[in-house]
Amino acid sequence: SQRELWGGRFSGETDPLMERFNASIGFDKRMYAQDLTGSRAYAAALHARGLITAEELEQLQRGLDAVRAEWENGTFAVVAGDEDIHTANERRLGELVGAVAGKLHTGRSRNDQVATDMRLWLRDEVKAIREHLLQLIRVAVERAEREQDVLMPGYTHLQRAQPIRWSHLLLSYVWSWHADAERLDQLLARINTSPLGAGALAGNPFQVDRTSLATSLGFERVAQNSLHAVLDRDFVAEFLFWSSLVMSHISRLAEDLIVYSSGEFGFVQLADAYSTGSSLMPQKKNPDSLELLRGKSGRAFGQMAGFMMTMKGLPSTYNKDMQEDKEPMFDAVDTVAGSLQITAGVLATLTINATKMQSSLSADMLATDLAEYLVRKGVPFRETHHISGAAVRMAEERGVSLSQLTPDDLRQLHPAFADDVAGVWDFEKSVEQRASIGGTSRTTVLDQCRILRDWLASA
Ligand code: ARG
Repeated sequence: SQRELWGGRFSGETDPLMERFNASIGFDKRMYAQDLTGSRAYAAALHARGLITAEELEQLQRGLDAVRAEWENGTFAVVAGDEDIHTANERRLGELVGAVAGKLHTGRSRNDQVATDMRLWLRDEVKAIREHLLQLIRVAVERAEREQDVLMPGYTHLQRAQPIRWSHLLLSYVWSWHADAERLDQLLARINTSPLGAGALAGNPFQVDRTSLATSLGFERVAQNSLHAVLDRDFVAEFLFWSSLVMSHISRLAEDLIVYSSGEFGFVQLADAYSTGSSLMPQKKNPDSLELLRGKSGRAFGQMAGFMMTMKGLPSTYNKDMQEDKEPMFDAVDTVAGSLQITAGVLATLTINATKMQSSLSADMLATDLAEYLVRKGVPFRETHHISGAAVRMAEERGVSLSQLTPDDLRQLHPAFADDVAGVWDFEKSVEQRASIGGTSRTTVLDQCRILRDWLASA
């Protein structure tokens, strides 16, 4: 039973239901490798302080490697009483190497151990997630370069606003992901702090060298306060927030593409690989991948909120509530890693209907350009906005398109309209005028691609 580990002062039995309730092995076994890595390093630190002999160190290391091999080839047997991954690995180590296994935990607590395991585990996962994120960015930038000619309506409030390049829209998602990548690097640095050697809460009584312990595990720094070392789960909170934010960016793209793939828009078509059919309606092709991405953003946010609720109000140092930190972390990692890869797949295989995008542009989307035409003739913008609005109303009243108003019609609204006003009704020109940094013109779109490619090359 779990009593093996800590039962010296107990006489009564644990309720079997409590034993299961208390156990985390069902999920924390995901960290078996990091747990063994931490133990290997800790054994070496014990030896360096003369707490175990060279021979004992070798026995422990061989044993730990054997336990690892069992996990890897699927023969590790979790037995009743294996409370968590730390207990299970130590129990098995004892079976393999005998009493010397009992020396491994000298000065160590599961409190510094679990915090170490989680940081090692998340550090590895964050590196993989970072690669998925960069791949997604690569896919989107390539697509933006390839489809730079395509114009489409840009929306605010989902109302038709101004013509933009499709590539400019694609890159707007990329800039969110670019910031996500920067944030990920920043939080990685904070994950990479070593709690090992902090003990249960008060520090290590055998002067283990925490600095070389940290170095041997690839940590960048040592947690400087043992109480803080065992209580600190800010790295989990930060990662959960990060996941929520990335997922909200993915959700925005998903929602845009769901709308654009509807029959009414018809701007994009999802590849079969990322769509599903209806069991009832033969004609249906549903954007399930995008809907799941949108849905899973809620899940990521829920994990963050749930975890924060667990942590709020805890007193200092380790409390068993904190065992509830792992499942949100695991789930967020799985959700965001899967979502990044699916999003990249969707974006890589999507087809766009450039003709439909361009034919959805209408002259009213150039009302701003009409106002700007007058600005170029020296009329103050606030007046030109009003005049262009009156032109929109005039066209509406006559039931014609804004571009069908003649220069004479427009001169009734303001004398500065000359015959060259006909030149306003040109979507390409409208887009190309927006050529200061960040605009939707071709050069400023290609500038973005170049900046992102340079960044990718060194990221
Ligand atoms: N399974 C525990 C957890 O995940 C390990 C730490 C237990 N520490 C303790 N003092 N009970 O939080």
